[in-house]
Amino acid sequence: MRIGILTGGGDCPGLNAVIRAVVVGGSVTYDDEAVGFLDGWRGVVEGAAVPLLADECRGILTRGGTIIGSSRTNPFATDAGPDRVLATVQQLGIDALVAVGGNDTLGAADRLASLGLRVVGVPKTIDNDLSGTEVTFGFDTAVQVATEAIDRLQTTAESHHRVMVCEVMGRNVGHIAVHAGIAGGAAEILIPEVPFSVEAVCERLRLRHSGGRFFSTLVVAEGALPRDESAAAAAKGAWVPAGGTDQFGHGRLGGIGGWLAQEIERNTGYEARATILGHIQRGGSPTAFDRVLATRFGAAALEAVHDGEFGTMVALQAGRIVRIPLSEAAGKAKIVDPHLFESVAGLYLG
Ligand code: F6P
Repeated sequence: MRIGILTGGGDCPGLNAVIRAVVVGGSVTYDDEAVGFLDGWRGVVEGAAVPLLADECRGILTRGGTIIGSSRTNPFATDAGPDRVLATVQQLGIDALVAVGGNDTLGAADRLASLGLRVVGVPKTIDNDLSGTEVTFGFDTAVQVATEAIDRLQTTAESHHRVMVCEVMGRNVGHIAVHAGIAGGAAEILIPEVPFSVEAVCERLRLRHSGGRFFSTLVVAEGALPRDESAAAAAKGAWVPAGGTDQFGHGRLGGIGGWLAQEIERNTGYEARATILGHIQRGGSPTAFDRVLATRFGAAALEAVHDGEFGTMVALQAGRIVRIPLSEAAGKAKIVDPHLFESVAGLYLG
């Protein structure tokens, strides 16, 4: 078979591990040929593709990013995009496409599948917000990076008797904040799913500090906002840079941490600092967990392609890799389990 592969949306550690599994696995087991579409759906819309040879892909397991590039191109927001995708696939003699992406990339794959595209999806995103799979690869690496950062912030917070606010990624969901916050012993974890009260946060900090502690580290997801409408508007104003929106309608986030640190300092008098971890969470080599998961997903996608199970996505459920309809996963944000948030993060153990 001649298999095309694309990686779309924000990159994440483990993408190259999927490419390796599909390309090397396909070549060795089935004598497949592989073609890499450049920069996500852009490559398929524009017919920009390169051959992917098994020998070139053998050494990429540990490498961060994606060797075929990524973008937030939406074929449905591009002139004649869906028709151009179908035409490219036909012109290049592609028998099947493996689309590796998150909600946006796989949402487009789902719509294209209903137009006849022979596509199998592989779930990725550091945010871990894709439904149908217990976890996406990239998430574990991001949590490790964020946890290490929180550990480091804790020691400098202690030395200077400060409040440190660590802002992590998570546009709509707070999985990274919750996991890294618990692992790093944060005093507060603030997530987009649960709007917070600045007053309540400050009150808990006062209580902690009056109890003899002289430092606190808070974790806030970039998409978290205060409950109070005027405070939320002020916090949104702090998002930097404002920028525009991408083809899927997402604006740029980043800045809530700085705003919150200022509010805490103003309300409590405690000296506060903010750190935005940003893309450090997305770059670099995947953890062992993400290498294994991405390799399993890649191998499973290859099997699904050879079984002709198009319009599906591979997913992790109860420790096993399964196939589910793309429509069950894409576009349905998986939020943080309220029980986990309330019962562990809400204990303020930090
Ligand atoms: O891929 C998800 C994500 O990492 C979000 O957490 C974040 O808001 C966004 O991507 C950042 O995207 P970009 O790199 O395009 O600014």
